[in-house]
Amino acid sequence: MRHLMSPLDFSVEELDELLTLAQDIEAHPDKYAHACDGKKLATLFYEPSTRTRLSHEAAMLNLGGSIMGFSSADSSSAAKGESVSDTIRTISCYADICAMRHPKEGAPMVACQHSSIPVINAGDGGHQHPTQTLTDLLTILNVKGRLNNMTIGLCGDLKFGRTVHSLIHALVRYTGIKFVMISPEELRLPDYMRHDVLDKQNISYKEVVRLEDAMPELDILYMTRVQKERFFNEEDYVRMKDFYILDKKKMKLAPEDMYVLHPLPRVNEISVEIDDDPRAAYFKQMQYGVYVRMALILTLLDIHVD
Ligand code: NCD
Repeated sequence: MRHLMSPLDFSVEELDELLTLAQDIEAHPDKYAHACDGKKLATLFYEPSTRTRLSHEAAMLNLGGSIMGFSSADSSSAAKGESVSDTIRTISCYADICAMRHPKEGAPMVACQHSSIPVINAGDGGHQHPTQTLTDLLTILNVKGRLNNMTIGLCGDLKFGRTVHSLIHALVRYTGIKFVMISPEELRLPDYMRHDVLDKQNISYKEVVRLEDAMPELDILYMTRVQKERFFNEEDYVRMKDFYILDKKKMKLAPEDMYVLHPLPRVNEISVEIDDDPRAAYFKQMQYGVYVRMALILTLLDIHVD
């Protein structure tokens, strides 16, 4: 049985297969409409979510399956003190596959050790968010036509942003990838990511504070929200929250084929004035999130459609 805790749980070849499957699902949705008839997905969300939870649910419904779950810790027995391991033992009796989001790093990993169904990590604290990475990879592939030889700017909260951490883990396995880390000093990429992932694998990257300085050389700009819920005090958050605002003026500095991604939700970091720019790919990105999660559910349940 397979789980998805980190993008590294799939080899590059397996990722390629999964992305190809997602593209086929987008092109021929009818072919897959009954692939999961009779199967159930449980979504166990101990932290707020709109896209991640509902796109997993939409994915299972599009495949003909059914869904169940909870969308906050207070509406589950976690509020009575139940452990993640006991909850997952329970869910294993009711569903065929589950997606779990939890504020504690490693909680989905604990769950998969006690689970008899595949567990998908739908975000664990500031650690990882592998299904967002699948979404990001599919988006980059669809807008740029490739996943190698590219300069990727990661901007905003690189310290707490789990989507950034997972995306870096996935992208370093492709060739010719360079990163530009764009963040205020206090929200720099954590040491363990810089040393253990980037330096160890000799990945080319630089760190800058000003977004304007990075724009001209980027193929992809990945914007992120300052992760309010992970700050220790409100004051620091307030000081950091509007550090970057991507607007029309800054977009003028970017190449014609530099696409802007964002896992969403956005707060102020992308001005709505660029939503109509053909390079704004973040709304397409959330749509791709459904196809890629359909492909993921099929892969983890080992269901093949001819
Ligand atoms: C992200 C997350 O939850 O980490 N959202 C998402 O799943 N699309 C990003 C964020 O909340 O900033």
